[in-house]
Amino acid sequence: MVTCTTVEHTRKLLQSVRKMGKSIGYVPTMGALHEGHLQLIRSSVAGNGFTTCSIFVNPIQFNNPDDLVKYPRTLEKDKELLEGAGCDLLFAPPVEEMYPGGEKPEVNVDFGVLDKVMEGKFRPGHFHGVAVVVKRLFDIIEPGKAYFGKKDFQQLGVVSHMVHALKLPLEIVPCETVRESDGLAMSSRNTRLTIAERAIAPYIYKVLKMTHEKSGSMPPRELEEWAIRKIGEKPELRVEYFEICNRETLLPLGDWNEPEGAAACTAVFLGDVRLIDNIELFS
Ligand code: PAJ
Repeated sequence: MVTCTTVEHTRKLLQSVRKMGKSIGYVPTMGALHEGHLQLIRSSVAGNGFTTCSIFVNPIQFNNPDDLVKYPRTLEKDKELLEGAGCDLLFAPPVEEMYPGGEKPEVNVDFGVLDKVMEGKFRPGHFHGVAVVVKRLFDIIEPGKAYFGKKDFQQLGVVSHMVHALKLPLEIVPCETVRESDGLAMSSRNTRLTIAERAIAPYIYKVLKMTHEKSGSMPPRELEEWAIRKIGEKPELRVEYFEICNRETLLPLGDWNEPEGAAACTAVFLGDVRLIDNIELFS
């Protein structure tokens, strides 16, 4: 695997890959890699002649400065894991390379409610920061396919919408959430949990699964309230939101017959660690 830190070097290398007629698969990440990221890499390796990963802790998507400072950085271990998963190129730029002179490229896309509900409501500016960096990364890598995890359900919706709105010539490939054996969705933030918190964390997915079982049996708003109460049975957990939404519009689900299907999405604080998870309903 080759590691590049500059845009110029990355573009040059990928140009020669394209000349060889190889398709380019791409997995954007912020590092601190785990099995969830590696599944995306493996999907890309299986579906393309050449796989690129990027590691860039994007400062403009962190609305909480403390979260940015505490974000785990494990570049050397990440490189080993990427090699093992068959990645061909790692793009790991410094901030100055992504935003020269401190300038941030604009993304002119109307996201409607997609970037305003749930994560958008509680992390103002977050999805704008994600859209800006992903657009910049797509412009540098120019992949044929880009792989995103359903773990970040709303991010997947925002990025897919941007690709469609800007008519970007690439395909977004959604990948299933990878979980620990006890159900906890893998996340770089899990490493910040204490041993006691780590033992409680799988309860979030347990309630999501119960919500899945109960879907249709009561109106969506009532089921949300039920789930919030259920999570609240563990005093260590603090629910920021729990929403049952239309899987495509992300608007609160009116009734169970909406043809696009539904998802339950939640953000829960455990100590000072904010965990998100979701489950598709009726799938
Ligand atoms: P990061 O949190 O590092 O995640 C990178 C990719 O891995 C995302 O597509 C995310 O959904 C996926 N992922 C994370 N945990 C997963 C899991 N348990 N199962 C499956 N996929 C998982 O998301 C970001 O970085 C950033 O916002 C980024 C898109 C790179 C823009 O900065």
